[in-house]
Amino acid sequence: MSVTNFCSADAHNASAVRAKVTFQTLQEKKQSGRPITALTAYDYSTARLVDETGMDLILVGDSLAQVVLGYDSTLPVTMEEMLHHTRAVRRAVKHAIVVADMPYGSYQVSVQEGVANAARFMKEAGAEAVKIEGGANRVELVERLTDAEIPVVGHLGLTPQSVHRMGGYKVQGKSMAAADALLKDALALEEAGAVAIVLEGMPREVAQHITRRLNIPTIGIGAGPDCDGQILVFHDLVNLSFSKPAKFVRQYGDAAGLFRSAVEGYLHDVEKREFPAESESYHLPKETRAAFEAASPIRRKA
Ligand code: KIV
Repeated sequence: MSVTNFCSADAHNASAVRAKVTFQTLQEKKQSGRPITALTAYDYSTARLVDETGMDLILVGDSLAQVVLGYDSTLPVTMEEMLHHTRAVRRAVKHAIVVADMPYGSYQVSVQEGVANAARFMKEAGAEAVKIEGGANRVELVERLTDAEIPVVGHLGLTPQSVHRMGGYKVQGKSMAAADALLKDALALEEAGAVAIVLEGMPREVAQHITRRLNIPTIGIGAGPDCDGQILVFHDLVNLSFSKPAKFVRQYGDAAGLFRSAVEGYLHDVEKREFPAESESYHLPKETRAAFEAASPIRRKA
């Protein structure tokens, strides 16, 4: 692998002059109306690419359960798996804020356990914040995490860890009462100390209203264009998630097509003995080669 060619000269130069993004940067962006950019990443190479583009925030989302580990929901992914991927992302990222998603079961049992698990993301994996799903029911946890110097990103609306309670992956906040409950949850999270909130799968009008009411930034996914920023799942963006994209996904590339044709090309060339070529082979120096062949003559079958 050509490690030195990994990053283009342009990306490298841009990277040298960019300042580290912080939650203060996101706050300033909200105040000045500049959009916050966010994307998920789960490993070293994609996190490095995403960081070099100038993204503000990289989320090591528990969506990795599905798009990287092949589980059928986010529920089975463990603390150890999330820590493993967060460490890989941390090693790649120099500028963006790295947020670790707390997996299902790591913060729902007790506030104490939630704080202890969140501290592991900060201490053992280098996360700069954790994300948790839920609203008013998470206030005590958000307060305790904030008190423990752990920045918290909230997550409201279509919260995938609640898939069974919601009866599927459904847009939330569609009735007056449900929209009002989302607003109350958002205000409660802000009051408890959350530094930002992801708004997922809700009507544009609800996300817009919450965004206007909050002082902290909102980052939308399937919540319309009026949030302070946007986030998508990396694998959806590049067509590598092997599932029908949701209405809100825009595919900017076809990684599946690119990877498939590269792998098919390799398979073909190996089968036809067209890879590796002479120019892709190493050789002994001439003198050594003659001595080597003389010392170990090839026995030909009779
Ligand atoms: O896990 C994830 O990728 C997320 C985003 C969809 C916000 O929570």
